[in-house]
Amino acid sequence: MRKPKHIAIIMDGNGRWAQKRMLPRTAGHKAGAKSIKEIIKVCIHHEINTLTLFAFGRENWQRPEAEVSFLMQLYVTTLEDNLDALLEQNIRLRFIGDLQGLSFEMQTLMSKAERLSSTNTGLNLNIAINYSGRWDITQACKKIANAVKQGCIDGDEVDETLFNHYTALSDLPAPDLFIRTSGEHRISNFMLWQLSYTEMYFVEECWPDFSATSLEQALVAYAKRERRFGAVREHDYA
Ligand code: IPE
Ligand code: IPE
Ligand code: MG
Repeated sequence: MRKPKHIAIIMDGNGRWAQKRMLPRTAGHKAGAKSIKEIIKVCIHHEINTLTLFAFGRENWQRPEAEVSFLMQLYVTTLEDNLDALLEQNIRLRFIGDLQGLSFEMQTLMSKAERLSSTNTGLNLNIAINYSGRWDITQACKKIANAVKQGCIDGDEVDETLFNHYTALSDLPAPDLFIRTSGEHRISNFMLWQLSYTEMYFVEECWPDFSATSLEQALVAYAKRERRFGAVREHDYA
């Protein structure tokens, strides 16, 4: 079975999952953290190279303050509680986004996790936090403009390969499979540059219900997709 090297997921629907059960939205976020563990296991089992999870978007600051602070605290405790287990699983952790906009506690913890896992050779696990696809493109532009100003590169040298080099996760392959849960059919400012040829897969289940079986089904669906990248199949010419 052809497998994706890189899976990117918008883990959506925590709030609705909870509301359907007459629970506060925060209960959905807690339940969502459990799904992550299961999905990581499946990725390791299938020897998937990279998993990128959208945990918090820049636009999510618009939510009520109580929900935002609950989420930030949940990220801290989840990471603290699971760091050893992640390291034992040979996972290399990375955080992408405007990390300077996060608390000092969060930033310290994230750099600790990145440092301790930097030599791991198993699954690349990337967490997008305070992230936005437009932010990523803009920060790349800024770095390129500065490099041109300093005379390190010539403006005419800027092409897709060079531009890509300045975007987040530029050393990893672009996502092959994008998954969004909860029945929403949009990208919501996730990896805009990197998703240009990614296979899109949408499911109705809310993130806390997204199980190992759900991911297995997504992998089967992916294996059936024919990726053409603008070309035509050779046998169409036969
Ligand atoms: C996704 O679930 C989690 C985050 C955005 C942090 P939501 O909180 O968006 O859940 P719904 O979409 O309101 O159900
Ligand atoms: C996108 O989900 C961000 C994350 C899952 C972290 P949202 O639930 O915030 O997206 P919209 O607002 O429905 O597009
Ligand atoms: Mg949502």
